Amino acid sequence: EFCKGVNGHDKVLLRESRGSSAEVYLYGAHVTSWKNDHGEELLFLSSKAVFKPPKAIRGGIPICFPQFGGLGTLDQHGFARNRLWTIDDDPPPFPTNTLSKAFVDLILKPSEEDSKNWPHCFEYRLRIALGPGGDLMLTSRIRNTNSEGKPFSFTFAYHTYFSVSDISEVRVEGLETLDYLDNLQNKERYTEQGDALTFESEVDKIYLSTPTKIAIIDHEKKRTFVVRKDGLPDAVVWNPWDKKAKAMADFGDDEYKHMLCVEAAAIEKPITLKPGEEWKGRLELSAVPSSYCSGQ
Ligand code: BG6
Repeated sequence: EFCKGVNGHDKVLLRESRGSSAEVYLYGAHVTSWKNDHGEELLFLSSKAVFKPPKAIRGGIPICFPQFGGLGTLDQHGFARNRLWTIDDDPPPFPTNTLSKAFVDLILKPSEEDSKNWPHCFEYRLRIALGPGGDLMLTSRIRNTNSEGKPFSFTFAYHTYFSVSDISEVRVEGLETLDYLDNLQNKERYTEQGDALTFESEVDKIYLSTPTKIAIIDHEKKRTFVVRKDGLPDAVVWNPWDKKAKAMADFGDDEYKHMLCVEAAAIEKPITLKPGEEWKGRLELSAVPSSYCSGQ
């Protein structure tokens, strides 16, 4: 189902028979909404989000490619999140054991402009699908289409903004005792101590070699988000807190209380693709009542 979104941008609505849904903008191949079968929104989207270049939409799931962060001449977090992607009207079928019928494949190829800044030939296919239970699944396939034998490297993140009731009531499980690079301390390397993560100030960390499953527990909502990932060893945890929030034009002053970014990523060790090679990175999100998970 297609329709027009903010600023006349095309968007795709995915609906699953039990009632869950997702909304995807072709601008950035950006998931801006994911609702469970009660119609509750599960992703954060800023009330001040700007839906036009050169900015990415603030919230939902921006795609960071071909670079996470702001090194060198490339745009911060790469260009994929502020390009117009195209729909593949004849996508390859799902494996027959997958029940999902609600999906869309979006394609990004480099523009002339992109090739000047990042001189590599690639095709990026992003499949966004809703599972029968309302799970949201994103599968990225990036292929080196260079015929002259040149490899390329990239870093990557699914920059997911989860909607939470109150950041000070949230706990993240799965990252304790791991090493991380602290973006607020010149990317120095530290080791996480103690139990599950909780939040009382700005955080911007890249956890390294993380498990394939991370849980975000929202006590007030009695909801747990389960992040499952494949091909994505790192996980960024970001909340701008009050001061940074005020400095961001496309983010409300108090909105930091209601969001948390947990980003499945490949950052520490860039992915390298030889000509003809393809990389696959998968993210699967589910939202379940907390009692199912923590036994409380
Ligand atoms: C996070 C980074 O992933 O994204 C932060 O770790 C950054 O350092 C944040 O501030 C938001 O980036 P942007 O470009 O969307 O404002």
